Amino acid sequence: MQQFGIAITGSGSATPPLALDNHGLSQVVETSDEWISSRTGIRQRCLAAPHQSLAQLATEAAQAAIAMAGIAPTDLDLIILATSTPDDLFGTASLIQAHIGASRAVAFDLTAACSGFIFGLVTAAQFVRTGVYQNVLLIGADILSRWVDWSDRRTCVLFGDGAGAVVLQANDRDRLLGFELRSDGTQNNCLNLAYQPQPYALTPEVAIAQGSYQPITMNGQEVYRFAVKQVPEIIEKALFRANLTTEQVDWLLLHQANQRILDAVAQRLKIPAEKVISNLAKYGNTSAASIPLALDAEVRQQRVKPGDIIAAAGFGAGLTWGATIFAWGR
Ligand code: ACO
Repeated sequence: MQQFGIAITGSGSATPPLALDNHGLSQVVETSDEWISSRTGIRQRCLAAPHQSLAQLATEAAQAAIAMAGIAPTDLDLIILATSTPDDLFGTASLIQAHIGASRAVAFDLTAACSGFIFGLVTAAQFVRTGVYQNVLLIGADILSRWVDWSDRRTCVLFGDGAGAVVLQANDRDRLLGFELRSDGTQNNCLNLAYQPQPYALTPEVAIAQGSYQPITMNGQEVYRFAVKQVPEIIEKALFRANLTTEQVDWLLLHQANQRILDAVAQRLKIPAEKVISNLAKYGNTSAASIPLALDAEVRQQRVKPGDIIAAAGFGAGLTWGATIFAWGR
């Protein structure tokens, strides 16, 4: 079967204007700037205001990515929104489709927590490689501040809100050089945003559940161990598929969970610190948004240049993890 190439031709991002720094957070829970920044690298996070929606943030990021790619919204064939925090559990992607006027595109949500952007990138690539679609918009967006337990200092200090997007286009040269995806449901209990059912009797014979989603719970140390072990391995596998070595990587772009995880993974891969992209200090962990948010800043500052080789890896709840190796631009 003929294979078509794929290129990432545009990026965009959006964060809420409101930022809460570690000092401000110490008025919410018993913590300190010293504790948070030394253990996570996070100094502040942007938080969505009550009136802001995920669709608004995602739309802003999407419009910037489309403009950079130099296409019209009506050129888009497919929109994938990677998120765990949709405005609507039935899906939010089609609302974004309407906001940007991508009338020809089909749109759907994809959920893989903090791996969502990487899983979405690989999903999008399948449609392009098979020749079905030419222009795809992939958005990673989350508003985790709405799902954090703000009395739990072990988790609430970590997360922030944001959106990032890329445009993927059919291309003569295939710039997605390798990928590898994984999940392990046996460790599902490490990180959850779970529905808690409450029994509700409809009739004396028929009971159903009417419950609610409970705030995020996390076993931080388990997640840390998982990330530091699995992420270097999966990047090496993706590099192997791309027929590249770690020395050929220009940028290491990891899900922005914790600076310590970034440092440990880079160290294991022997990738020098100056090649490690980090925006943790400014934004914290923005879940599915973190990779495209960080990428967009580097592209717009012209640090990431056309042709640069990027090893990008996501990891998170599920557990899920995945890596892609791609060259930026056509
Ligand atoms: N401020 C002050 N003290 C705190 C805070 C806080 N915000 N949070 C925890 N502590 C205290 C604890 O109460 C504990 O005190 P105790 O010993 O008196 O009970 C002590 O600090 C150590 O707590 P731990 O939970 O063991 O802290 P740890 O050193 O493991 O660091 C952290 C926690 C930063 C979350 C770490 O486990 C980690 O980085 N894990 C990776 C998980 C991660 O990054 N998840 C992100 C979301 S998942 C994802 O995106 C993939």
